[in-house]
Amino acid sequence: MDTRVSRTSASATTSHTSRLHSNRPENLTIDHSTQSSKQENEIALKTENLSKVFDSAAGKIVALDNINFAIKKGEFVSIVGPSGSGKSTLLNMIGALDRPTSGKVYIDGIDIFSLNDSQLGIIRNNRIGFIFQSFNLINRTTVQKNVKLPGIIAKMQRADADSRTMKILEALGIADKKDQKPVNLSGGQQQRVAIARSLINNPSIILADEPTGNLDTKTGEDVFDMLKLLSHKFKRTIIMVTHNPELSESTDRSIVIRDGRIDQDVTN
Ligand SMILES: Nc1ncnc2c1ncn2[C@@H]1O[C@H](COP(=O)(O)OP(=O)(O)OP(=O)(O)O)[C@@H](O)[C@H]1O
Ligand SMILES: [Mg+2]
Repeated sequence: MDTRVSRTSASATTSHTSRLHSNRPENLTIDHSTQSSKQENEIALKTENLSKVFDSAAGKIVALDNINFAIKKGEFVSIVGPSGSGKSTLLNMIGALDRPTSGKVYIDGIDIFSLNDSQLGIIRNNRIGFIFQSFNLINRTTVQKNVKLPGIIAKMQRADADSRTMKILEALGIADKKDQKPVNLSGGQQQRVAIARSLINNPSIILADEPTGNLDTKTGEDVFDMLKLLSHKFKRTIIMVTHNPELSESTDRSIVIRDGRIDQDVTN
């Protein structure tokens, strides 16, 4: 492993002007006309002095303290660090699930926290796919409907959503489970459904918070191999939190978080 110097400080300012013409996803437009460089266009995600402070009964908790990094399109990055170090908080910020106390997140050049809540919701639904440790599937409905739902929310035509759902389920080897309720599937199968759901809107970034945490070793490795395939064959940008050092070392890059700061940023 080579330890590399943090590569974010020099790119702390952006030349992009992000413009939102309306709430409709197809109209999310980035204006790259001002000095946009090739290097900036290869960046899927960038944070700038990202900080998050929680107010709790015990006082202020600094969960993230000036996080700076840039992740290239197609990179498979793992986030590791002790419990309570800020990994999930970081994923929640870059996934637009929560707003930071200060600092910025750029996704595809868009300064996402300059957007209002409904615009942020569109970014979250259309550009980011989420995979969680506990799968977070809707158990009262079928696998097929779980996968299709973010597409419907994104105003995809029903016929398109149906055919895309089936293609993804087939690609992930779970098409035969389409009419089952997730609760009746194994953990590995449920996580495949969650991966399928994360792909329905063709997101630029997939965020996975301990996706193998609830799975046995073999099933966890299968799920990990699937993420690796998505990254290397289908050029998805994937950011995965894990406590498993072997899985982390098998990703392109490991970012170690300690006490809300980047402790190491390593190319594997
Ligand atoms: N909503 C919240 N309100 C108050 N404090 C919070 C909140 N969310 C997280 N924290 C605190 O922020 C810190 C970072 O938490 P976070 O969940 O990001 O850690 P983590 O690295 O994901 O840990 P784990 O490996 O156990 O999942 C912890 O001290 C946690 O208690
Ligand atoms: Mg966590």
